[in-house]
Amino acid sequence: MGNFFGISFLILALALLLNTHSAFQPLQTSVAFSILGYNITCYVIPRAKDAFIKIGLYGKDMSKKGKPIIPETIGIIPAITYIFLMFCFIPFLFLKFLVIDTSGGGNREIGISQDYDKFKLFPHNKLSSYLSGMLSLESMILLGLIDDLFDIRWRHKFFLPAIASIPLLIVYYVDFGVTSILIPNFIKNYFELPFNNIDLKFGYYIYMAAVSIFCPNSINILAGVNGLEVGQSLVLSILLLLNDSCYLIPLDKNSPSYDSHLFSAAILIPYIGVSLALLKFNWYPSQVFVGDTFCYFSGMVFAIVGILGHFSKTLLLFFIPQIFNFLYSVPQLFAIIPCPRHRLPHFNPQDNKLYPSRVIFDKRLNPIKEKILILLENLKLLSLIKEKDIKTGEIIVKESSNFTIINLILVWFGPLREDHLCLVILILQFLVGVGSLIARHTIGPWLFGYDNLHWLVQ
Ligand code: UD1
Ligand code: MG
Repeated sequence: MGNFFGISFLILALALLLNTHSAFQPLQTSVAFSILGYNITCYVIPRAKDAFIKIGLYGKDMSKKGKPIIPETIGIIPAITYIFLMFCFIPFLFLKFLVIDTSGGGNREIGISQDYDKFKLFPHNKLSSYLSGMLSLESMILLGLIDDLFDIRWRHKFFLPAIASIPLLIVYYVDFGVTSILIPNFIKNYFELPFNNIDLKFGYYIYMAAVSIFCPNSINILAGVNGLEVGQSLVLSILLLLNDSCYLIPLDKNSPSYDSHLFSAAILIPYIGVSLALLKFNWYPSQVFVGDTFCYFSGMVFAIVGILGHFSKTLLLFFIPQIFNFLYSVPQLFAIIPCPRHRLPHFNPQDNKLYPSRVIFDKRLNPIKEKILILLENLKLLSLIKEKDIKTGEIIVKESSNFTIINLILVWFGPLREDHLCLVILILQFLVGVGSLIARHTIGPWLFGYDNLHWLVQ
């Protein structure tokens, strides 16, 4: 039965690839590549996973009885499948610009497509956008793989994504170059400003480099529950596709944002295919772990679509849960509060459920930190274990739940079974994302007096 579906999907993919004259050609081709990516990844993972264990690439599933050993770094399979498919995508994307007859010397006489215009030059700028994206992505996959192999320290790997994003930033500079941001109307009116935007100049490139550092790392620290790394990445890509469809469905090819969002959708759709296949094996109870390779790969896919799709500010609206998780984690990430190697939830084999994991304070915290922790507990943002000093009557904080939203959700709704916890996080992420999408196109235009979504503001 599985084979029947697999073969039917492959036939569908081939049919989509052969029908090159559709109005939705790039989207249609990306759906075909997505189906191919899903099938290839599904085929390779079960056949290759034991080889990963043989060379020592495995991890213990901490939230199962007996902590079984599971192959790790399996994210490299969808990542490589994706990169190769995206290379095969290039001739299809640029099909209508290809020439079948030339008298030489760079003359372009007859084009492959019927609507070929011989005076239209090959869009080198679009191809360089695409290739710079693939180059940055390859560098990040390499970094993720090295991290999985050698467990690199934070301080050594932190700035590398910014360097990997240089090809993207150069293409952005040459091709688009907008570095100004709009000022909200109320600020403009309050200060009676004669202009409505600020040019951040080089600062905007620093911001975009920071986006490419943030996206991969924020996915990597919202992890440790079966299915969560891939699940959150799939929710993010669905939200980004919903945003793209706001610009693509009216099919106004002359709208300035049409091409950028077509690019974004063409990058995301094949990504969804390979990630869905990975989720099939990584969902509870996991047969494989995705590794840092997948987190870095995914994060960079989002940074690429945000930067080259020219919506790197909107992109962060969809990362609100990851931003919250990062800000909430700051005390542990910057060692203000001790941070154990793993902060994933604590598994109780008796009831098969997850509880908030805790950090134990060997030494007494300073009184100001203790007061802040107690305040956070009163705000239901932490769960603490405290003791009363018999001599002085002082309250001493002995333990605290770890500072991740995974543990926070367990503080609020726990204990939960691992897959239920993952589902709760993904549903919350989706709801926050849909809320952000609606706010982006309703409150956004009201605040800034402008939206690039033309059909909505007309
Ligand atoms: C990040 C988190 C760490 C969390 C880890 C889980 C920070 C600063 N770091 O570290 O707190 O514990 O991710 O991925 O927040 N694992 C499971 N079940 C899963 C997924 C992972 O048990 O569903 C365990 C396995 O033992 C696996 C290991 O986590 O081998 C992978 O951890 P790794 O990706 O190396 O951790 P970091 O990314 O460094
Ligand atoms: Mg990790």
